[in-house]
Amino acid sequence: MSRCPFSRWGSVLRLTGRATLPPRLESAKAFFDLIGQENPSLRPTPARKERAFRAIRSGGTLPLTRPELKYGCQLAWRQSVRCIGRQFWKQLDLLDHRTAADEEEIYEGCLRHLRHAFHGGALRPTVTVFPAADGEDHGPRIWNYQLSRFAGYRRKNGSILGDPMEADFTDLCLRLGWKPPRQKSPFDLLPLVISLPGRPPRLFPPPHAETVILPIRHPDGPYLDSLDLRWYAIPVVSNMLLEMGGVRFTAAPFSGWYMETEIGARNFGDPDRYNLLPEVARRFRLDRSRRSSLWRDRALVELNRAVLHSFQKAGVRMMDHHSAAQSHLTFEKEEQKAGRKVRGLWSWLIPPLSGSTTPLWNRTYDPTEYSPNFLPQPPYSNPSSSLS
Ligand code: ARG
Repeated sequence: MSRCPFSRWGSVLRLTGRATLPPRLESAKAFFDLIGQENPSLRPTPARKERAFRAIRSGGTLPLTRPELKYGCQLAWRQSVRCIGRQFWKQLDLLDHRTAADEEEIYEGCLRHLRHAFHGGALRPTVTVFPAADGEDHGPRIWNYQLSRFAGYRRKNGSILGDPMEADFTDLCLRLGWKPPRQKSPFDLLPLVISLPGRPPRLFPPPHAETVILPIRHPDGPYLDSLDLRWYAIPVVSNMLLEMGGVRFTAAPFSGWYMETEIGARNFGDPDRYNLLPEVARRFRLDRSRRSSLWRDRALVELNRAVLHSFQKAGVRMMDHHSAAQSHLTFEKEEQKAGRKVRGLWSWLIPPLSGSTTPLWNRTYDPTEYSPNFLPQPPYSNPSSSLS
């Protein structure tokens, strides 16, 4: 047993937005203890441990084998307190791109991720791991929030065409020289922006061929047709830091599949996103003269039905929020059986639609985050970039 106080659960990370991480050697020991306890086939020999510790003492980072890396990624998902879909943590595929030598190879790895994860619509949970940060925490970065994402163009009058959440990033792409389509639309894919430590960011074409985009239609009739709504099939979060054993992977895009409320309630419904509730209510002839007609709630349900229907019709994997909540409950039971505590962030686990109808509503969760995990990191951290 090591002297590290966190040997059972890995090292504690503080929930302060930016994590404070324990020293690398302690983290490496805790990581070895954790994976060895859970998975005897991964228990490192004393010689392996000694080699690894020596590498760290001489200023490097823990050299992870592929099975260690894969299990570490699965643990990072299992311990993600915001994720309602983590019952499937053991199904996470690893695409190991730690040898990517330049920005092109990272771009190619991103495209490969999209192709692997889509799998003809039977989405495969996937993480792609690029080279780790060095001892000073400088590593490769993907500046996009997700690999597929729609631009938000600022108009002269202050309004935005497309996704307002991407307006700043769209500005950045334009400053870097991106040429958007001549005919701009609310659903134009953004280019990828990739940087290596000490180098200015580089722009790569939007992943058009690798991104499946679905038309969103309502199951009961053509109510929404002329709005021409769309969304992409897979959310691949690409701006988070993956930490395990003191190693920091600053570029490690990961994806599972959508829960319909992410698109139908938040992306389409939020007033500071596509803000579609008033227009949807108008099309369904709901009474918008009084808040108490609950037109917002009714429009929200119709939008979510449309999203679910459209993904189902296209044969793209997606979960409704009732099934997702049920699946999280199953996950909690499975974890309890394995003798582990489930941590969670209630405000994230509860779906943004009909929260009280799900079995998670009355439960309480300890939100502490443990290593391995996916963490937020400062945006656009390239030190040599005048754009950051
Ligand atoms: N909520 C984000 C979006 O709407 C995606 C975050 C990751 N979601 C997921 N199901 N893995 O694009």
